[in-house]
Amino acid sequence: MENTPLLLTPHLTMDRFTMDDVADTAKWLSDPEVCRNLLLHPNQPYEEYEGMIRRIVEKYDTEEDYFQWCIREDGKPIGRFSLTVNRRHSGGEVAYYIAKQAWGKGYMTEVLTRVIRFCFEELGLNRVEADHFAENPASGRVMEKSGMKREGYARQKYCKDGVFHDAVLYAVLKEDLQ
Ligand SMILES: CC(C)(COP(=O)(O)OP(=O)(O)OC[C@H]1O[C@@H](n2cnc3c(N)ncnc32)[C@H](O)[C@@H]1OP(=O)(O)O)[C@@H](O)C(=O)NCCC(=O)NCCS
Repeated sequence: MENTPLLLTPHLTMDRFTMDDVADTAKWLSDPEVCRNLLLHPNQPYEEYEGMIRRIVEKYDTEEDYFQWCIREDGKPIGRFSLTVNRRHSGGEVAYYIAKQAWGKGYMTEVLTRVIRFCFEELGLNRVEADHFAENPASGRVMEKSGMKREGYARQKYCKDGVFHDAVLYAVLKEDLQ
């Protein structure tokens, strides 16, 4: 199985990051609104973003089941989508973000829907899950529109800058889509 294969959605392309994507990544992740509901802080030194992309690029060739897609619109990077696979339990966990100028166009729903199909049809997984800060209902809506079901609510699951955040858990099973 190829790590992080090219995937297409109706409007977008998902492929591997390259070092040419550092500047765009630094731009989205410097936006406090993009980082608000992520465990990331905006406006890090440029070298942090460079290091982040370098680590991703190195792992494409050294790790198995490594899935980190760069989401592109007309070839230009607009976001990141991560899938962590747990073969023992045939499960996957996803996380994602896109640049603010791309919000509200249905893009993340397209991407998540495509990755869920990839997980079931190509990786042979049984379950795909994700969670989001309770303060981020837009992400829950993306999960719901992509066929995931709300399964639970984890109080104070995450701590960011000394503040606890509740999380809402969603998942989809292979059998849900049959
Ligand atoms: C959350 C995020 C991924 C959504 O991506 P997107 O491409 O704009 O999502 P879509 O356009 O596919 O769908 C968004 C849905 O959320 C809805 N929505 C937006 N703001 C909302 C809010 N405050 N409350 C409830 N729903 C909201 C939209 O109306 C839309 O639903 P609809 O099609 O039924 O109208 C994007 O805003 C983002 O990257 N945010 C910053 C990082 C982040 O939060 N990542 C997720 C971490 S779990």
